[in-house]
Amino acid sequence: MTHILINFKRRNAENVTVKAKLGMSLMEVAVQSNIYEIEAKCFGACCCVTCHVYIEDSWVDSFEAKTEMEDSMLDFGENVDHRSRLSCQIELQNRHDGLVVNIPEKQRVLGL
Ligand code: FES
Repeated sequence: MTHILINFKRRNAENVTVKAKLGMSLMEVAVQSNIYEIEAKCFGACCCVTCHVYIEDSWVDSFEAKTEMEDSMLDFGENVDHRSRLSCQIELQNRHDGLVVNIPEKQRVLGL
């Protein structure tokens, strides 16, 4: 399998399912799929927080723990909770086929 399916639940309540190539970051897939709520202003350098997403509760444990860098960047995020991740720090693998990702209502924009 070289591709998996990712489901985005967008702000306007639209559900979008997209095909994602393994090894891509979740942020890259969102940007490529025109999920415009994911601005990814730092292009994946883990320094802007505009790629914040909520991983659906039932999927949270299928990911490796956050790095210290991701964790500290999330401190600057808006309404961060246990489902929060920076999508640029998530590399998609086979086990993520069918993943459900919720887009936050708001993204905090740091001065870049
Ligand atoms: S794209 Fe900037 S932190 Fe993820």
